[in-house]
Amino acid sequence: MRLVLVGPPGAGKGTQAQFIAEHLQVPKISTGDIFRANVSEGTALGVAAKAFMDRGDLVPDDVTVDMVRDRLVQDDALGGFLLDGFPRTVPQAQTLDDVLRDSADAALDVVLELVVDDDEVIRRLSGRRTCRTCNHIWHVDFDPPEVEGVCDRDRGELYQREDDKAETVANRLSVYAEQTSPLVSFYAERGLLVGIDATGPVDDITARALGALRPFAAARTGE
Ligand code: AP5
Ligand code: MG
Repeated sequence: MRLVLVGPPGAGKGTQAQFIAEHLQVPKISTGDIFRANVSEGTALGVAAKAFMDRGDLVPDDVTVDMVRDRLVQDDALGGFLLDGFPRTVPQAQTLDDVLRDSADAALDVVLELVVDDDEVIRRLSGRRTCRTCNHIWHVDFDPPEVEGVCDRDRGELYQREDDKAETVANRLSVYAEQTSPLVSFYAERGLLVGIDATGPVDDITARALGALRPFAAARTGE
């Protein structure tokens, strides 16, 4: 299955991506995670992306698209994938269509929109912690690890993202409204969009997401 998750910062894309990708047995491709890995390794890509990310702005489309194109032609993504955080602009979405057509003679199956309001986003991002080694996402109140600052899964160190400061979050929300939310109607017009309420317990949202995706998975396998 070829699936895109869309939703504002803090909607739970990364959290749900972990479970949905596991369930569908497709690789999870998170552009934010790829950028952050490049920033911490000090690569040229990381150096180019860092200033945009720290401000909460989007990394320019040309840089982002080249990075995703390289990732999508790797063997594990040829049969399907879950994209978290890409596309984020209409030109990125158009490029994604072209890449799929050229590389796999394929198209997207579905775009899942996670719907939450701004107040909930702010509560979530202010308490988010991420594992430095496995990228697992925690929250100090809503999903705390057993030992503060330590990942339950691999004992990795938990850190707070640079872009989760209040003023940067405010910019990320307006960038989402201006540049990314047009994707909702872009995909709705193509009959690819399904939206779910992304508030409530994480497990309930995963169940809601898998339920919403089922008809698209069935259509794909011809059931
Ligand atoms: P990216 O890393 O993609 O950030 P984002 O879209 O702003 O989204 P987040 O990762 O902040 O939120 P999320 O929806 O994944 O929520 P999460 O699951 O963590 O991008 C970062 C930057 O990289 C961008 O600003 C840009 O600069 C650059 N970039 C990336 N892709 C790009 C692209 N395509 N083009 C250009 N630039 C790009 O959850 C948040 C918190 O809430 C967690 O603590 C979690 O535990 C908690 N939580 C989750 N679900 C629940 C729940 N149901 N109840 C309570 N708490 C919950
Ligand atoms: Mg994320």
